[in-house]
Amino acid sequence: MNLRYILSFLNIMKIPGLYPIMKDWRAFIRMHFIFSAHESGLLKALSTPSNRDMLIKELNVKRPEVLDALLEVGLASKELELNNGLFSIKGKRSKAIMESNGDMLAAMIQGNVTYYSDAYRNVTNRIHGGELGDDLDKIGDLVARFSKIAEPIIKNFISSIVHGKNPMRILDIGCGSGVLLKSAYDSNGNATGVGIDIDEKVVRQAGENISTWGLSDRFEIRHGDIRHISGEMGTFDVITLYNLLYYFDKEARLSLINNLRDMLLPTGVLAVAMSFHSKGKDMATANLNMVNSSLKGLTPLPQLDDITSVLKKCGFGKIEIHRFMPGSTFYGIVATQN
Ligand SMILES: C[S@@+](CC[C@H](N)C(=O)[O-])C[C@H]1O[C@@H](n2cnc3c(N)ncnc32)[C@H](O)[C@@H]1O
Repeated sequence: MNLRYILSFLNIMKIPGLYPIMKDWRAFIRMHFIFSAHESGLLKALSTPSNRDMLIKELNVKRPEVLDALLEVGLASKELELNNGLFSIKGKRSKAIMESNGDMLAAMIQGNVTYYSDAYRNVTNRIHGGELGDDLDKIGDLVARFSKIAEPIIKNFISSIVHGKNPMRILDIGCGSGVLLKSAYDSNGNATGVGIDIDEKVVRQAGENISTWGLSDRFEIRHGDIRHISGEMGTFDVITLYNLLYYFDKEARLSLINNLRDMLLPTGVLAVAMSFHSKGKDMATANLNMVNSSLKGLTPLPQLDDITSVLKKCGFGKIEIHRFMPGSTFYGIVATQN
């Protein structure tokens, strides 16, 4: 190789900012590869090492050149390897997608490549008054899968609320995947209750999960808008709002929490867990706030005080704040009437 070319390449690399941008770019390409390899079924097909012809058949490929391009990115990013003509999974991210937490990891990547990316791509139009996105109902299923990321934290939080109590009737509003109900049951075998969600696909997901976990006789999964349902469900020992309150604007939060107070037994607990506005201190939360500010049906993340003051106004005299992680504004709130 001509030394002059190497020197000119090194000169390119001296362009301020280029090296860190190229590093980020590689991560970006890898994430896009995993997105496509997961959605196209390539990762699943490669749970058995396969040659090109086997993949064309298995994935019903009509444009082999696109598959070839994807396989090449897989090799170049070291997510895949090729031995004796057989492709297989090599990278730890792609391997993890095929393991027990894989669905949540896949949802994280799918969310980033789709609606998170859209939030940024549309900023210029939207800050000048362009329409906000109207696809909240199309991403509910994905959001519910992605939200399972905080399961271990939520498990501890819910356990501290339900442990050792009998009876323990729970209402989980915006139940998503239903994972919170499972966590409650894991901590207290007396737990029964209802999970409700406004999104039909999410309700289907939760129903399937609850049945797979063998909990259909403990928890009912309902389709509905909590704003239009109250008395008919009876009263509860615990009502949980996990990653929910930013679906309601200020006034709606007040009327929701007022109604929920009436559905709680006098000794009952209202438990909130969610990300709050990070004021520039937490990148993951700031990123979530971009989505929240970009889609119809969501609000920018509230501050912790916004929610505690609504709880006080609604008659919750005792409010405990649980700080989950240093440096993060993902908090839990436990509110009781006295
Ligand atoms: C961000 S997801 C959280 C899901 C689940 N709580 C979790 O964190 O894993 C919020 C859920 O609330 C549901 N939701 C929003 N507004 C609702 C309403 N008015 N009544 C019932 N569910 C609602 C959405 O459909 C969505 O599934």
